[in-house]
Amino acid sequence: MTADWYKYATGYQIYPRSFLDTNGDGIGDIQGVIEKLPYLKQLGVDFIWINPVFKSPNKDNGYDISDYQDINPEYGTLDDVRELVDEAHALGLKVLFDLVVNHTSDKHPWFCASRSSKDNHYRDFYHWVEGKEDCPPNNWKSFKGESAWTYDETTQSYYLHIFDKSQPDLNWKNPKLRQAIYDMIQFWFDFGIDGFRLDAISHLQKAAYDRQVTDWEGDGPWGPFMNVEGIKTYMTELKALFDANGALTVGEASGVRSPEASSWTGDGGYMTMIFEWEHNARDADNHGSIPDFIAVLNRWQKDMDPGGWCGLYLENHDIPRIVQSFGDGSVAASKAFAVAYFLLRGTPFIYQGQEIAMSGLHFTELSQLDSVTVRDVKAYDSYIEKGLTPQEALDKVSAWSRDHARSPMQWDDSPKAGFTSAEPWLMLSSNYTERNVKKALSDKNSTFYLYQKLIALRHESKLIAEGHYCPVDEGNAAVFAYQRILGDEELLVMANLTRHTALLKLPDSILENDWQEIDLGQDVSCETLTKELSLPAYAYHVFEKRQ
Ligand code: GLC
Ligand code: CA
Repeated sequence: MTADWYKYATGYQIYPRSFLDTNGDGIGDIQGVIEKLPYLKQLGVDFIWINPVFKSPNKDNGYDISDYQDINPEYGTLDDVRELVDEAHALGLKVLFDLVVNHTSDKHPWFCASRSSKDNHYRDFYHWVEGKEDCPPNNWKSFKGESAWTYDETTQSYYLHIFDKSQPDLNWKNPKLRQAIYDMIQFWFDFGIDGFRLDAISHLQKAAYDRQVTDWEGDGPWGPFMNVEGIKTYMTELKALFDANGALTVGEASGVRSPEASSWTGDGGYMTMIFEWEHNARDADNHGSIPDFIAVLNRWQKDMDPGGWCGLYLENHDIPRIVQSFGDGSVAASKAFAVAYFLLRGTPFIYQGQEIAMSGLHFTELSQLDSVTVRDVKAYDSYIEKGLTPQEALDKVSAWSRDHARSPMQWDDSPKAGFTSAEPWLMLSSNYTERNVKKALSDKNSTFYLYQKLIALRHESKLIAEGHYCPVDEGNAAVFAYQRILGDEELLVMANLTRHTALLKLPDSILENDWQEIDLGQDVSCETLTKELSLPAYAYHVFEKRQ
């Protein structure tokens, strides 16, 4: 395997809770992942990233870890993970875990010890500031919008949490904490894990506690923990550990902006690649703007070329499905988006269900929402007070719900979609009888086979792996078009991301070439390229330059 194998590869993200339940408790499990490895092999992906399966009270579905080196029994055991790694490797698939080291659960033994007294060994594993109740050390706000500090009676001090108060932040300034984390990481490398998705990694460093938030500084009230000075020391130490183990690493690094991200990734960077967040922006009703989507991806591609490397994605466990937010819900939309992002410069990821155009949930009762979102009962009540009907209020509060993407995987059209024999932990999408894996596999025109073709195309193409990114008709508000260029070789990609016919302007430099369309199963192929090309709703085409 060459050092740049990841440039030819595709990742698949598994949300284990919703993938496949094999023991009839309504919750997906590690055996379920093992059972479906051949399916992933058929799709053609090269590695999987599995969301956290470690011991956890599940306040944030596994992102609140109480034991880094053991498995939550609802998912299985360490032996199951051993089997998973062995089976995946036997199929040539690499396995990435989620590395959640910005915070632990408040039930982690480190935190239990840390809060118990001011002078125990673990005290400085977390951020503590002495104080009086109702008078937090500063005005920092958590991502939930409340104070980032919670008062703890036992030692009459505040601890810091940039997420939920059940997720206290680890104090990376403490070398003993860092060593404990590095030992844990090495444990997983020794276990056979091939790499990590680095959760919330750009937040490891915090500003001095006396810094009040006075302005937005581009990062809003989160400035004191977004890519703060000093973080590079930790990243450099982590990199040494990752490199020594030949790891593949993908950073969730909000606050690292596109011009800087290049130096965080690629050769010499701290991590193999980065997930940028900006293209996900949507309004309060979860509607994304296509012009913004295109503009953001275009900017990241330009800024990351040639030095940096992106993890390319449309969906994950935190955001509603792409066809729902940016498309019109149709299979045609799922395909146009697939082509648009898949051939960019970077390593594409497919989030489970994206390959069968899964489209999210339609809630009819507040109780159907998972607990994290139900905390929005207040918002629901306030909409009712404003005069909205119960359904309108529900649509408002559920618009952004992470549940849309977390609904159980739709394997077939049997009563529980083949996900479980029990009641699934979260409701199923009502369209599972139409959109499911069984049906997709029996339809040569399905989104599944489009992804299969795109993955295969990437495996073979040095041009797609290494070519430069060049925008075409930059500023077009409907069609995302670009070229990939490597020496004499050229690729031309175009996708109309709207439900209306749209025009694409092609420059002479492109029209002069002789192009051949790549068969990606589209309904209509494009006979000739013209100065102003009219593309029907969700049409896509990919061309190779004839040599
Ligand atoms: C990341 C995860 C998200 C989690 C948060 C806290 O953003 O993707 O699911 O809630 O980190 O760990
Ligand atoms: Ca189960």
